[in-house]
Amino acid sequence: MEKYVIVGGNKLSGTVCVSGGKNSVLTILPACLLSKGVCTIHDVPKLSDVKVMQEVLLCLGAKVELNGKTMVVDATKVSTVELPDRLTRMMRASNLVMGPLLSRFHHVKLAYPGGCSIGSRPMDQHLRGLKLLGAQIIEKHGYIEAKAERLVGSEICLDFPSVGATENLIMAATLAQGETTLRNAAREPEVVDLQNFLNKMGAKVRGAGTDVLKIEGISELGSAEHTIIPDRIEAGTFMIMAAITGGDVFIKNVIPEHVEAVISKLREAGVQITESNEGIRVRGFEQSKGVDYKTMPFPGFPTDMQAQLMALMAVAEGTSIVTETIFENRFKHVDEFRRMGADIKVEGRVAIIKGVKSLSGAYVETSDLRAGAALVTAGLVAEGATVVDKINLIDRGYEDFEQKLRGLGAQILRVNGIKERQ
Ligand code: UD1
Repeated sequence: MEKYVIVGGNKLSGTVCVSGGKNSVLTILPACLLSKGVCTIHDVPKLSDVKVMQEVLLCLGAKVELNGKTMVVDATKVSTVELPDRLTRMMRASNLVMGPLLSRFHHVKLAYPGGCSIGSRPMDQHLRGLKLLGAQIIEKHGYIEAKAERLVGSEICLDFPSVGATENLIMAATLAQGETTLRNAAREPEVVDLQNFLNKMGAKVRGAGTDVLKIEGISELGSAEHTIIPDRIEAGTFMIMAAITGGDVFIKNVIPEHVEAVISKLREAGVQITESNEGIRVRGFEQSKGVDYKTMPFPGFPTDMQAQLMALMAVAEGTSIVTETIFENRFKHVDEFRRMGADIKVEGRVAIIKGVKSLSGAYVETSDLRAGAALVTAGLVAEGATVVDKINLIDRGYEDFEQKLRGLGAQILRVNGIKERQ
């Protein structure tokens, strides 16, 4: 398995350009299944998760072409509404084909996505919403099957503002008969991007970015061309990397409002941040101050940034308290940080971090995509060499990661074949 070898100590400096958003493209590609035309998507990042979604579309019978960063999806014809188990298992986001397939083809079947390393991740909110839209749901032998002659607009109030449930239900409602009101909806920027894309296809969706969405069902959707929004988590990761190394980095292709919660915590920690129309400049100093933070749905502090900020807190002055409210099992990186000399205690959903003067390079393992990015972040300031294993998980969500980091002056190499931890 491939690994990163990082030699810490270099201050990052220069300019980095953020790629198109992973979570946005993973929603917009399945949304193409709603279209009777051809959809052209720009700024598609080169990520392994995007490859899996491309395979999902191909397996369903859509035509997909990738030219550079532009993907053209022709889902005029779809040959099956059943997703192979292998793809559902490879990526939870493959469940986002449920809303579009059910809405347009009246039927969908896929293996239950199940849990993953960060938590149990149930599907109850997706399924409850689809039932309210009139679908018959059959859960048997580990599969979810949904059927409906035609979905009918309804009033849905989510128990929790789940991003995936919001996206699946918006897509399902676009071709339903009548109007759907979705309350307590997720307000994430990716939901807004989805709304913009669907409306270009001819859908009538409004309210994204607030917690109430109205979707007026129509009979068919057509072609559209769309550019994916920048990846706010990638932007936030580079901001923290600049801060932790005491560097000076200019981040291009970022929408400041999408990273306000991260900016605000970094400022509280003493990091200097300047926002402009062109991007965000981040300057770090010798040692940041410890700050407390709690993960929340957007616009709160994102769970996908929890681990990376913890790397900064591990070497900050004083104690920080981190509360993870979104996923129940998202502190697996803590043991790996400890191997590097961090002083962190976990009690349930709370981590207490006592900042140390320095970390030391060690052999560490990635447990999920963002934990991997956090270990790389810690490696950038650790004394000596850090080996980060299982970086295929990092490839799921960071395009050209090591190239971008090397461009900023980091010492990072992708290698094969260093001895595994015994
Ligand atoms: C999306 C993001 C992921 C991010 C997460 C939270 C994509 C591809 N992934 O994941 O990177 O970490 O949002 O911001 O966009 N829940 C239920 N029942 C449901 C659905 C969710 O209880 O039916 C719970 C989950 O277990 C979790 C919480 O809701 O505790 C948030 O999950 P959700 O917002 O659905 O995350 P995803 O859409 O899977």
